[in-house]
Amino acid sequence: MYTFIRHLLFLFDAETIHVFSLKILSFTHSIGLLRLLLPRHIDAPITVMGIEFSNAVGLAAGLDKNAKYIDALASCGFGFIEVGTVTPLAQAGNDRPRLFRLVSDNAIINRMGFNNDGVAALVSHVRQRKNNCVLGINIGKNKTTPLENAVDDYLICMQEVYVHADYITINISSPNTPGLRELQHGEGLTDLLTQLKNKQLELNQQYKRYVPLAVKIAPDLIDEEITDIAQRVLSAQIDALIATNTTNSRPDKLLCKSVAEETGGLSGAPVFDISTSVLKKFADALDNKIPIIAAGGISSAEDAVKKIQAGASLVQVYTGFIYSGPTLIQQCALALKKR
Ligand SMILES: Cc1cc2nc3c(=O)[nH]c(=O)nc-3n(C[C@H](O)[C@H](O)[C@H](O)COP(=O)(O)O)c2cc1C
Repeated sequence: MYTFIRHLLFLFDAETIHVFSLKILSFTHSIGLLRLLLPRHIDAPITVMGIEFSNAVGLAAGLDKNAKYIDALASCGFGFIEVGTVTPLAQAGNDRPRLFRLVSDNAIINRMGFNNDGVAALVSHVRQRKNNCVLGINIGKNKTTPLENAVDDYLICMQEVYVHADYITINISSPNTPGLRELQHGEGLTDLLTQLKNKQLELNQQYKRYVPLAVKIAPDLIDEEITDIAQRVLSAQIDALIATNTTNSRPDKLLCKSVAEETGGLSGAPVFDISTSVLKKFADALDNKIPIIAAGGISSAEDAVKKIQAGASLVQVYTGFIYSGPTLIQQCALALKKR
């Protein structure tokens, strides 16, 4: 049934349909219809970062940027939901069109640019959720904040979301905020992570609750950068790594050649190899000292298993969910349960 619905939806502009689909999902959930249509939730409890997840398959950041649809999305079978990226102030993001489907490639290119309603709005939506699934909140910087002041934006967001999150993701890898990926490198990274770690310890004291920090990295990194980032993440005592965000690269095998020329981050099936290779290298460099959450190109249960084999403890899906719907989430969760 999802394939039929998808064919219909894909006749329209990608972003318009994205918003429309989330509204329909939310409506059908609110009237109790959604749970009758969806595959059953797979219970396969797993503890990572000291948090118990109902299964190992999460929703990656960016689909529910303002945390408006947590309950409806959680009912799609995810073991955890990551909302955001949220910035201190609301911002419109880049001009439309900024979301493109590469249907024959099972892929998406986006250059959304952190369009979101700001951290206060996100927190007010999170407060209204009824589902108690594990919630990650992904934080970033406003476009207008100079890079040298980026840490202030992360600190503001952290302060606001801390009590509402089960874990917090520090996003320094989106390709659509100018300069953001520079935060992944050198002393600047150490400085950023140290300040955020100190804030975490301060908030832990204040609220008597330890909320783990995860750093989300790009797939477009060379080996020396991977080793360097891993060392800095460990030294700063960050709790987990998310590998990876979308890629700026364009693999030769892409079939939708003209859409592939659009600027933005590529996600979905063509990213799987690049992302999994980076995941493996991080797994070696981190040497099991902290867990890795894998995202990037999961389009089947086998892909999810390969991510775990490559060194991940949990997986996240975004583009595969758009193309295959909730059944993919159930299949991945089942395959990981059986391992
Ligand atoms: C339209 C779109 C928007 C995204 N927005 C964000 C975001 O705001 N923050 C973030 O950390 N990742 C964002 N991502 C990246 C995803 O969370 C994920 O890391 C990436 O797409 C790879 O996973 P996938 O191949 O399963 O989509 C976005 C991805 C897409 C397709």
